[in-house]
Amino acid sequence: MKPAILVARAIFPDILTYLSAHFEVESNQDDVVFSPEELMQRLKGKVGALTTSSARISRELLQQLPDLKMVANMAVGYDNFDLAAMTECGVLASNTPDVLNETTADFGWALMMAAARRITESEHWLRDGQWNKWRYDYFLGADLHGSTLGIIGMGRIGQAIARRSTGFNMRVIYHNRSRLSPEQEAYANNAQYASKEEVLRQADHLMLILPYSAASHHTIGAAELAMMKPTATLINLARGGIVDDVALIAALRDKRIAAAGLDVFENEPKFHPDFLSLSNVVLTPHIASASEATRRAMAKCAADNLIAGLSGQTPPNLLKL
Ligand code: DGY
Repeated sequence: MKPAILVARAIFPDILTYLSAHFEVESNQDDVVFSPEELMQRLKGKVGALTTSSARISRELLQQLPDLKMVANMAVGYDNFDLAAMTECGVLASNTPDVLNETTADFGWALMMAAARRITESEHWLRDGQWNKWRYDYFLGADLHGSTLGIIGMGRIGQAIARRSTGFNMRVIYHNRSRLSPEQEAYANNAQYASKEEVLRQADHLMLILPYSAASHHTIGAAELAMMKPTATLINLARGGIVDDVALIAALRDKRIAAAGLDVFENEPKFHPDFLSLSNVVLTPHIASASEATRRAMAKCAADNLIAGLSGQTPPNLLKL
């Protein structure tokens, strides 16, 4: 008998076939987002699971699942895992780093350009039939070339974002838990390390790409937004909880910063309804890693981690406390 696993959300069919060669697979191609209770019921008797960030792997859940040996997240972020509880319960955990760095960095740039140059706002206006002449001051935005790019969270994706700025002749200033090596800084367009406050003060465009945890909850709130330039753009590619939405909405509404681009939201897919009434924010549904090739690579990576972990090998992307 093959070991039983749950693939908790819809996935590429060929990845299901790949997993089926190793496991008895319960799939969810209807893509039901399971409640915690439903997830627990589905996981009963399973030794493994392939999840996305919508599946919360909590201590309470683990306590009811003595057979569970491994959960492979199809995401680089793993704030949906209680890693301490997983470690205590002897449940292996993995994520999908690296395969999405470049695609996510591309998307960060797309959001930054769209927000700074008011692309979606002006397109909505055009589609709305409001364009009847050219005017010198229609949709004036902020330049990217020659500006200062601030990055909070200078991991692999942050560095990939920084590297792209060489073509725009931008200066890069960053804050991170630890400073990069001189070689890494040089490769990241000679990025300069600074305090979070300095990054906030100096950035013309601010990119948030740090991991979410209790410690990074609301890294950007009213006080931080007040430090930013009134002409600045803020981009959040990380997790919704990094930014205090209520404070951001107030800052955007009162033009205390110029614009924002958000791919992630606290409690997504729900989001604060007031964002919809703001023209200076670009909103996308958590798609930064969503290129065909990258989502396939993430699925394959998660599957390979699960196969390794459940066959007694060390998963290539094993998460440690
Ligand atoms: C990630 O990989 O963490 C992306 O945000 C998708 O969840």
